[in-house]
Amino acid sequence: MAQVRHGTLVERWSERRPGSAALYRRARAVFPSGVTHDARYMEPFPIYITRAQGSRKWDVDGNEYIDYWSGHGALLLGHNYPPICEAVVEQARKGTHYGACHELEVEWGELVHQIVPSAEKVKFFSSGTEATLMAMRLARAFTGRDKILKIQGHFHGWHDYATFAMTPPYEEPVSRGIPRVLRETMISVPFKDIEALRAALDANPDVAGLIMLCNGAGTEYLQQVRQLTRERGVILIFDEVVTGFRYAPGGCQEYYGVTPDLTTMAKILAGGLPGGAIGGRADILALLEFRDDPQWMRFGRINHPGTFNANPLSAAAGVACLKIVRDPSVQRKAAETADRLRAGFNEVLKRRGVNGEAGGEVSLLSLSFPEARLKGRAFSDRLRMAMQIGGVDFNGSGMIVSAVHSDEDVARTVEAFDQAIGLLQEDGAL
Ligand SMILES: Cc1ncc(COP(=O)(O)O)c(C=O)c1O
Repeated sequence: MAQVRHGTLVERWSERRPGSAALYRRARAVFPSGVTHDARYMEPFPIYITRAQGSRKWDVDGNEYIDYWSGHGALLLGHNYPPICEAVVEQARKGTHYGACHELEVEWGELVHQIVPSAEKVKFFSSGTEATLMAMRLARAFTGRDKILKIQGHFHGWHDYATFAMTPPYEEPVSRGIPRVLRETMISVPFKDIEALRAALDANPDVAGLIMLCNGAGTEYLQQVRQLTRERGVILIFDEVVTGFRYAPGGCQEYYGVTPDLTTMAKILAGGLPGGAIGGRADILALLEFRDDPQWMRFGRINHPGTFNANPLSAAAGVACLKIVRDPSVQRKAAETADRLRAGFNEVLKRRGVNGEAGGEVSLLSLSFPEARLKGRAFSDRLRMAMQIGGVDFNGSGMIVSAVHSDEDVARTVEAFDQAIGLLQEDGAL
């Protein structure tokens, strides 16, 4: 663990990372703000990673981190889990794109069908964004209605429709460049407010589908949502891009016992490679079918190309991964590790007299500091830096725990957190 020395936290952090600073100077010349994903933007510069294994990763300056990004949630089995790694390497030698159907895609689809309760039929994509875009389109096509109802603050990727209802004012998208006419097609309600949902559905009989995250939803609320949507013929879409294969093998729908009409998946689905999927009712996915009927082919169906849909590399990783994570002891192990981290962090916060809390559900751990002096991104970046000094990397507001984080990782992470809180207090951020 790094010694606490004089100088500001940012200075101490920067001193050990000259290689990352140099790469960021190059990156800024080619990428807007130097980054390839919004979440990687960090001031004065982000860290650059060269290698990862298991629960650890190493930056270009030789600093080691216990990693709680977990591939943005894709790595329930950590980095380079041997059976997945071997399957990918073997497949790479056999070819990465056949421009044809192949056996692994069938096996991958069969596994999703077997594991995910709602997945009567399956369709693959290259990302979660594509999956939620198609889910909304399927809902509109199936019902013949135009509007999508969304829960305020729920993230479903970056396509045009997903930019609505993210931050207030909810009718304004979080991005520029979104056609004004789309405002008329997206409405939103607060999370876990069943009366608001009922009122919105009553006032808008032209709602095709409701898309939502289930994290923290609870069985009772989800059952009510299920009933309200079923009564009105509204397609219920659970976005399980993060929660799929993580809350339970069959995701939140298995964990809470409520089955949607359509489920969107990505991340763990593809074992750490790019990939997305929809699993859902056979009669809805039938909209993607070919039929010997020119009228249907021109006006009835939804078309679906996509160069990398179910590509052999992602399929190899996905099959290897799903064969392992279908065993619920995997999800249980990750959740137990997260519980130990929560307990350790909350003990540190209490002992240091900091108003904060480690919460969240199963293997998703969230951190909140209601009285922090720095706010928003400024605080989470500072917390990230303080944790990186102690050899831990995460996104600054929550940790995604894998089934391969060890007892030693937990002990070192809690120690790093203790030191980080001290650094933030010294630094005036808390
Ligand atoms: C719940 C949820 N839906 C959709 C997406 C978009 O997935 P992707 O980044 O694969 O496009 C994400 C990404 O983090 C997500 O968390």
